[in-house]
Amino acid sequence: MLSEKYKDFTGWTIYQIYPRSFQDSNGDGIGDLQGIISKLDYIKELGANAVWLCPCFKSPNDDNGYDVSDYRDIMDEFGTMDDMDALIKGLHSRGMKLILDLVPNHTSTDHRWFQESRKGRGNPYSDYYYWFDEIPNDWQSAFGGSAWQYDALRGQYYLHTFAASQADLNWDNPAVVKEMQGVVDFWVDKGCDGFRIDVIDCISKNIEMGENSHGPRLHEYIRALFGREKVSHLFTVGEGNTNDIEDIVLHCGSERNELSTLFIFDHMECGRSDKFTPKEDSLKTLRNHLVYWQTETDKNDLLYSLFIENHDQPQIISRIGNDKELRYESATDIATMVYLLKGVPFIYQGQEIGMPAAHYDSIDDFDDVECLGYYHKYRETLSEEECLRKINFGSRDNARHPMAWDDSRNSGFTDENATPWLLPHNRAAEVNVAKDLASEKSVYRFYKDLLKLRKDNKAFQYGDVEVFSKAEDDFFVYTRSHGDSKWVVVCNFETQQNIELPFECEMPVLANMNRATASGCYAPYECAAAKVK
Ligand code: GLC
Ligand code: CA
Repeated sequence: MLSEKYKDFTGWTIYQIYPRSFQDSNGDGIGDLQGIISKLDYIKELGANAVWLCPCFKSPNDDNGYDVSDYRDIMDEFGTMDDMDALIKGLHSRGMKLILDLVPNHTSTDHRWFQESRKGRGNPYSDYYYWFDEIPNDWQSAFGGSAWQYDALRGQYYLHTFAASQADLNWDNPAVVKEMQGVVDFWVDKGCDGFRIDVIDCISKNIEMGENSHGPRLHEYIRALFGREKVSHLFTVGEGNTNDIEDIVLHCGSERNELSTLFIFDHMECGRSDKFTPKEDSLKTLRNHLVYWQTETDKNDLLYSLFIENHDQPQIISRIGNDKELRYESATDIATMVYLLKGVPFIYQGQEIGMPAAHYDSIDDFDDVECLGYYHKYRETLSEEECLRKINFGSRDNARHPMAWDDSRNSGFTDENATPWLLPHNRAAEVNVAKDLASEKSVYRFYKDLLKLRKDNKAFQYGDVEVFSKAEDDFFVYTRSHGDSKWVVVCNFETQQNIELPFECEMPVLANMNRATASGCYAPYECAAAKVK
């Protein structure tokens, strides 16, 4: 049985915003907090009751806010602390929660701590980072190249698991733990209801043993952050980078006082053999990952994070759906497969209108620091055309293009004569909020119906899950039951077929095509949910 606290979280639906790309309010081409405030009704109307903001703290933006230079202030481009207060008020007055993105593993090298630290040994900040006279191991940065960077001022090397301007904090220094506790408390006092924690597994390392994540003191540090009485009620989701169930139990067991849940990324492999290489695939792969994790998290009474997209992932419907003729059908079918399962749903901006992946003709149109690093690496051996194909496929910019609100020049994201920080999505004229809402096949309205079904029925939140279809079937059938209420969910994959259910059902209450009965012939990507009699 899920703990009461976790049961409660299954009633949350978290809408993830990439603030830079959501809505610009002042025509500078960069999304901002006032822009978000202007869209709160849109988000609430969808059925979300919480918002996760990607980092909005002061930052020079080498990694779009994941390089924080002041955790207690707002990024200039996004607005002011007053705007943040207004956003918190706007959310809370609508009964919605705020989840902030905490980046505890590294700071920007612009952060005052780093600037002090690099001045030399023997100052209070000297040991806030990892400094070595000689490069101690062969760790590579996630964005390419060595993870060690020489700093001429200090005359030593420092560690950066990500870009060179993202220096890893030394959590073995108790002063760092204290600083980060202060940051958490500062935001909780302001009204923040939870945190998404960036690369949480990295904060404890074992430099001698050559392991830069899951170090020996990881659990101790997480508890130091979130196990304290003041904050232990918060919702916390870690970006975990593990799919080892024993590990996950240690992080997310309800008695552990660490995290509410972790993002598990297994299913992100759908439709690709690595980040930049596509692979023929089917919804069956997604189904199999989902079933595996429903079973494992259930067995261990863990809260599972239901997500299929985020700011680091190209849109899944372009990898395992049909994002052209059957875009609406694929988007709604995948949503139904995932979001009527047990756990806490996360919806990434644009997903609710079935936004597909983007395409650009020149590498100059890309911004993502990760993909640019890979581009240069690939270019050593591949043609320009092949490189661009890879980058278009895997770039995180796919998910970071300005939100497509309408078909105007800058897709309603910013003024028509402004220059958006990243090009509008190349399919924005065809896929945008205004058009979706005006269409008979509205992905947004489907999501809205789905989320309402979930909200109105505990069975879909924390009821039992039973899977009926077999691993080899080209469709997915599961039931959700709680007390005497039982529901069946049917999701067909790519081919038309007959699906006979072993029980009698009422007429489907949710369906992406016209359906009178839950059993019968299903078109490609057709789905339905119905009450079992
Ligand atoms: C996480 C974030 C990603 C960022 C990285 C470094 O993976 O989701 O966007 O680049 O951490 O902070
Ligand atoms: Ca702006």
